[in-house]
Amino acid sequence: MKDLVRMRTSLKEEIERILNEQIKMEAHSSAIYLAMAAWCDRNGFDYSAGYFYKQSGEERNHMLKIFKYVSDMGGHAISPEITNVPQEFDGFRDLFELALQQEIAVTNSINRIVGTARQLNDFQTDQFMQWFVKEQIEEEYVARRALELFDVIGEEGVGRYMIDKAIPKITYDGDAEGA
Ligand SMILES: [Fe+2]
Ligand SMILES: [Fe+2]
Repeated sequence: MKDLVRMRTSLKEEIERILNEQIKMEAHSSAIYLAMAAWCDRNGFDYSAGYFYKQSGEERNHMLKIFKYVSDMGGHAISPEITNVPQEFDGFRDLFELALQQEIAVTNSINRIVGTARQLNDFQTDQFMQWFVKEQIEEEYVARRALELFDVIGEEGVGRYMIDKAIPKITYDGDAEGA
């Protein structure tokens, strides 16, 4: 029966498996950002809370995008079980250190999927994943800029208040000419 199901999709088992892993990773990112938003709310960092709520929503959309692709291709998209969500953090800066690490891990994971898709001549998945390849440039940029604000502004005095206010204003302009 399983073979019959498999005959109805060109999605290879290995690709389906790693796409489901990515679905889980995006859902995990979404949950981590939500916990970060709550931490900011509890500690008086209003603007950063808003920033992390927005990030959390974006990660859920990433998850859904891949979920729908697997389903549309005739595969079995698995609704992920999310565990190991940190609820406490060492401090304001720590959130952004973790966020950047998370984004770098996601970029590496996406690159591995594209590499595997190319090895297996799965050009649909290769092309589908290119949106994520591009998206990660922005995701890493924004996370890196947020962390840099801690050095540029400094945490002393009203520093953390200033950093908090600056966080949601970070934008990425991939076009050097600004057009
Ligand atoms: Fe993502
Ligand atoms: Fe992300």
